Amino acid sequence: MSAEADRVGVIGAGQMGSGIAQVVAQAGLEVWLHDTPEALKRSKASMEDSLGRLSARGRLQEAPGAVLERVHPAAELEDLAGVRTLLEAVTEDWGVKSGIFARLRELLSEDALVATNTSSIPITQLASSYGRPGRFLGLHFMNPVPVMPLVEVIRGLGTAEEAVAQALDLVGRLGKTAVQCNDYPGFVSNRILMPMLNEAIQCVMEGVAEPEAIDQIMRLGMNHPMGPLALADFIGLDTCLAILEVLHSGLGDPKYRPSPLLRKMVAAGWLGRKSGRGFYRY
Ligand code: CAA
Repeated sequence: MSAEADRVGVIGAGQMGSGIAQVVAQAGLEVWLHDTPEALKRSKASMEDSLGRLSARGRLQEAPGAVLERVHPAAELEDLAGVRTLLEAVTEDWGVKSGIFARLRELLSEDALVATNTSSIPITQLASSYGRPGRFLGLHFMNPVPVMPLVEVIRGLGTAEEAVAQALDLVGRLGKTAVQCNDYPGFVSNRILMPMLNEAIQCVMEGVAEPEAIDQIMRLGMNHPMGPLALADFIGLDTCLAILEVLHSGLGDPKYRPSPLLRKMVAAGWLGRKSGRGFYRY
């Protein structure tokens, strides 16, 4: 890649966008990260914490400060105009995402590679809002991004082979493993993960066992690093609900119906770790 092609834009400095910007910078690329000033401030603190942990374990080739110097705050979307690779990681909301892609069409060059980190909104639909489907695809990172090796690479109906090849190259540069799939609701990761989390929530609702017991059974019995309820809290219960809604409406099968308890907790604002309360208190 040329120096110009090394310019990467990331939109959204939440948990996922922040982690993505960090691994891009760790790979030696310059990254422009766009969000509100408050979100950028929180993101910097989270990157410092994560880089500090990696450094303490000898997993960083350079000082954390040197990595952070490659992350440039971008107050305006227009600041991303020169980037050749754009990774979108804003909230899981079709209206927000499609509005951003419509603006990006005016800002980015025709050959820019544009990827969304959506966990479930159809790639083909988002590609239409951008308007250059050949240059658009899904790059779905896993949380926590600096630790998890997988990136799910999702082709929209119109994604060009060249775009997929470029994306695979980028994922390799980030030190991650790319696994490809096609654009169907929930892709592979969430189509399999979310029904399991939903079933664990149904177990709580029906009084089958306490949350701690359900998680312990899955950790000790199935060797999962986190129990399903701790994981749902970690992902965010609102995000889990949004993904289950997409699976339910997109596939039309009642087996994806979100648990009424999940709906109730989200309505109460119990969103998991980020709100301080979910199946556990934080
Ligand atoms: N940055 C840097 N290092 C981090 C980190 C971060 N953000 N988070 C954890 N670590 C490091 C720790 O420092 C620790 O390092 P060592 O092994 O060298 O000591 C290591 O990761 C393990 O951390 P902990 O000891 O704190 O805790 P743990 O052993 O439980 O691991 C975990 C934490 C990696 C998150 C592990 O619990 C895990 O893998 N959980 C499952 C995560 C998962 O399933 N993610 C996918 C969610 S689905 C998704 O993201 C997609 C979607 O669309 C919803």
